Amino acid sequence: MDERDTDSRPRFVARIGEVPAGKSKKFVLSVGGREVECFVVHWGGGHYAYVNKCRHIAMSLDWVENRFFDEDGRYVLCATHGALFEPTSGECVAGPPFGKRLIAVPLEVRGDEIYARVPQAFEDVL
Ligand code: FES
Repeated sequence: MDERDTDSRPRFVARIGEVPAGKSKKFVLSVGGREVECFVVHWGGGHYAYVNKCRHIAMSLDWVENRFFDEDGRYVLCATHGALFEPTSGECVAGPPFGKRLIAVPLEVRGDEIYARVPQAFEDVL
């Protein structure tokens, strides 16, 4: 992968308050010349972001566009085989990829805006 193709500049994700508690929003990062779909969740008072790729099979988690939570709104759900992930850590607590973690995207808050950045080791895991 060509490191020059990765956009390491902070990428605007959302304004604080734009993503209601228990909801999510998709965004895209440029990694190695590819567009990588990610999502941010607002849960438990914080914002957390992950690559939209299950750790069982490399499929998007959401069948219904931008619907990442299970019916109870407690866990991030992979719609393909029903795996459940902790919203705050991305750790799988039930389902085929049990014990694995979603690929986390670091976030930073600047004023009332949330930004994501491609971490240095990111290309190695995608
Ligand atoms: S693809 Fe996500 S649990 Fe199988």
